[in-house]
Amino acid sequence: MKKQVGIEALAIAVPRRFVDIEELAKARGVDPAKYTSGLGAKEMAVADPGEDSVSLAASAAARLIQQQNVDVSRVGMLVVGTETGVDHSKAVASHVQGLLKLPRSMRTFDAQHACYGGTAGLMAAAEWIASGAGAGRSAIVVCSDIARYGLNTAGEPTQGAGAVALLVSEQPDLLALDIGLNGVCTVDVYDFWRPLGRREAVVDGHYSINCYLDALSGAYRGWRERALAHEVVRWGDTLPSEQLARIIYHVPFCKMARKAHTQLRQVDLEDSPSGRELTPEAREAAAKSNASYDAQVASSLTLNARVGNVYTASMYLALAGLLHSEGTALAGKRVGLLSYGSGSCSEFYSATVGANAAARMAKADVEGVLARRERVSVAEYERIMNLPYEAPEAITPAPGEFRLKEIRDFRRTYVAG
Ligand code: CAA
Repeated sequence: MKKQVGIEALAIAVPRRFVDIEELAKARGVDPAKYTSGLGAKEMAVADPGEDSVSLAASAAARLIQQQNVDVSRVGMLVVGTETGVDHSKAVASHVQGLLKLPRSMRTFDAQHACYGGTAGLMAAAEWIASGAGAGRSAIVVCSDIARYGLNTAGEPTQGAGAVALLVSEQPDLLALDIGLNGVCTVDVYDFWRPLGRREAVVDGHYSINCYLDALSGAYRGWRERALAHEVVRWGDTLPSEQLARIIYHVPFCKMARKAHTQLRQVDLEDSPSGRELTPEAREAAAKSNASYDAQVASSLTLNARVGNVYTASMYLALAGLLHSEGTALAGKRVGLLSYGSGSCSEFYSATVGANAAARMAKADVEGVLARRERVSVAEYERIMNLPYEAPEAITPAPGEFRLKEIRDFRRTYVAG
């Protein structure tokens, strides 16, 4: 039997504070419906300087190990996908290894390509295991980021922060990957970037949406070609994309998942024998199908609407939300996942939900993690945003979590709760 490889379990970590998105809209003199229905947001995580990509990654990885009783002596690789690392040289993964006192025998590195870095890490880990190079060992892949555009910018309501830690192994209780079917699309564009030394991202917002949709089309076509060849999907009464039980998209803001789904269907309709017979208007109407969006996408967005963008972690936060709410119903079913990183690289892959997904997700307690957050006013959010990044407030982290304590002589010190 072919070796199964994929995600065995996951854990999430989020900043301790959040702001209500309608309150933010009112403070900016914007119709709240623009942020809620136009962008699909409800709440937005607010990270203070003590909550950086290291502390969030360490908190998520520690939670994963504790909740799922991970035998760390069996972990041979630790990868952190991040686009908001803290040093040009020292890896976030090395901090996490040290903070969690993980074995020295593991390979550690960061993967960076905007929001695609987490998927790059996951594929490196999964293919390492599938190739046999891991010799039966597991990997931990952590996606951790602070999405920050700044006060009073167009990107402001699409900020957020958090981390998702994935245990990758030959026991894919959450998700068994269809290794070898992945479709990839790389295009050299300036849609979203962060020059060295800047805290805030630079973004050409509307162009970035088009870049995402263009890259999605290429990556999806690549996957579909292989999936058709392996008879995982087929042209028939339903579109190939409709043969996936759910599709999880990179979610910079929730409404983007709807745009992505419309684009994916448009690609299928343009390429299908039956779709080609339709007028362009009829194809567009079929691509925009609310029924398809409600059935295949909507249920994955609950956590993202409450946290905001988490860059590398956003698609994996959507996966957590989906398996949290539908782990039992989806057992044994195939889902599609679309990762996008500006700049750009996009990857579409498929995977089958495991029979133990619901049990694993119950241990992850994602609702509990979000429920422990504190809601802050817009004034407090603005105060936090204006704090200097090198001077974190002295706050004791919650048990099992980590915070940046200080930066002295360019060295960062963290404190554990
Ligand atoms: N009621 C209801 N809806 C309203 C409304 C109202 N009163 N006013 C506006 N809207 C709707 C608009 O119609 C629009 O919806 P559609 O796109 O479906 O038409 C939506 O609200 C947003 O309105 P605008 O486009 O006018 O908003 P904007 O110009 O202020 O900026 C944005 C939106 C470009 C997403 C901006 O927030 C931004 O730049 N965000 C950061 C960039 C980003 O997230 N890019 C995504 C692709 S790149 C990527 O994915 C990588 C990554 O993670 C960053």
